[in-house]
Amino acid sequence: MNKIIMGGQWGDEGKGKIVDLISKNVNVVARYQGGANAGHTVYSNGKKLVLHQVPSGILQDNCICVLGNGMVIDPVELCLEIKELEELNFSTANIYISPNAHIVTPLHKAIDVKNEDSAKNKIGTTGKGIGPTYVDKYNRKGIRAIDLLDGDKLKNQLEKRLGVALEKNEVSKNLNHDDEAFTVFYNSCEYISKFIKNIFPIMHDQNSKILVEGAQGALLDIDHGTYPYVTSSNPTIGGISSGLGIPTTKFSEIIGIFKAYVTRVGNGPFPTELFDNIGETIQDIGKEFGATTGRPRRCGWFDSVAANYSIKLNGMNQIVLTKLDILSEFDTIKVCTAYKNNESESNDYSEFMNNLDKVKPIYREFEGWNCDISSINSYNDLPKNAKEYIEYIQNILDTKIAIISVGPKRNQVIEL
Ligand code: GDP
Ligand code: IMO
Ligand code: MG
Repeated sequence: MNKIIMGGQWGDEGKGKIVDLISKNVNVVARYQGGANAGHTVYSNGKKLVLHQVPSGILQDNCICVLGNGMVIDPVELCLEIKELEELNFSTANIYISPNAHIVTPLHKAIDVKNEDSAKNKIGTTGKGIGPTYVDKYNRKGIRAIDLLDGDKLKNQLEKRLGVALEKNEVSKNLNHDDEAFTVFYNSCEYISKFIKNIFPIMHDQNSKILVEGAQGALLDIDHGTYPYVTSSNPTIGGISSGLGIPTTKFSEIIGIFKAYVTRVGNGPFPTELFDNIGETIQDIGKEFGATTGRPRRCGWFDSVAANYSIKLNGMNQIVLTKLDILSEFDTIKVCTAYKNNESESNDYSEFMNNLDKVKPIYREFEGWNCDISSINSYNDLPKNAKEYIEYIQNILDTKIAIISVGPKRNQVIEL
């Protein structure tokens, strides 16, 4: 049956690694939202590869990789990504871009950067033009992948949109259609046009075994996340039916990826954030720097209140717990079990979701295990304290932990 993998926190949970692992059992891997704001790290023959728009199934021979209509596609970055994959001898013949996906242009990136520069309360976006491209989509002024198939029409469309942007001060007056950035854009559009193909037959083929790859995470969802500090798409389950044209009744396994602690890049509330040397140590040994922007990730303890919300919101029926190896360093490990605001205390995230910056986390403490677990492949071989931590998380989330990840490589997993 078909499976979904999605982030349960604020992104960077290790989705890429787990999609790569699970894609050996499927023949289609599909992205449904977001774009080059994502950075999904995978390893091939020891070489690190960061995928931004191409689904992480690309490492498996003959896997069909779908870029769904719900995505916003950056042709320039996609072109670079595809060329890098081809240089590494991965076949890219099975990449399908939905004709209905919207296109990020140099104009959209310039608007994104200008919006951030001039904002008083900065979101801390990736600067990849995601928000402005979705704005044009919902304003019914967008450029779609299908428009790349007629070069002259595309140039006309974009030139017009640029004129409006200049008139409305959406970008600096210096942006010009004759700029090198636009030439590179048009060349890239031409290069990727061969991948623009109908995705509907694949998504509805009886023989398709589909793995859906979420980008970002539930708490960055435009409707259900920490608004306005969110991305401009729906990484949560609803995004799948609209972003790929397939009903969610076709999926039996909804797998939420959670880091054994929490990280966040960019601004916005983060109840369990650590501002002390424990946070710094997690960032340091967890190599918590953004795969797309290189920005340092903020770090904190595992938040079961937020995790339970993600699980309910998405109907997750399995969990993958990643980066457990990073916690081996600590004598004491904490899990947030409830939030407190003034006198009220609760473990219901939805009660506090619009006041998250005011809540204080209530913690339960665990003794660390203080030994290297990164080469363990069997649950029974884990130290007693690590098992206690895992079992507690499984119980408080009332959801089966299916895989524990103990290192970045494909084989560093404990399958339960
Ligand atoms: P994604 O966006 O959810 O795919 O995650 P990223 O690739 O942005 O960030 C996850 C980072 O953690 C990457 O550098 C991975 O190589 C690394 N990683 C994934 N799982 C593990 C793990 O279990 N242990 C360790 N130490 N690193 C991991
Ligand atoms: P993956 O798929 C972590 C964050 C940005 C910013 C907010 C809005 O690798 O998990 P945007 O550029 O989307 O308008 O930025 O969302 N963000 C991510 N954080 N992982 C991601 O993707 C992210 N994609 C966007 O840092 O706070
Ligand atoms: Mg990432």
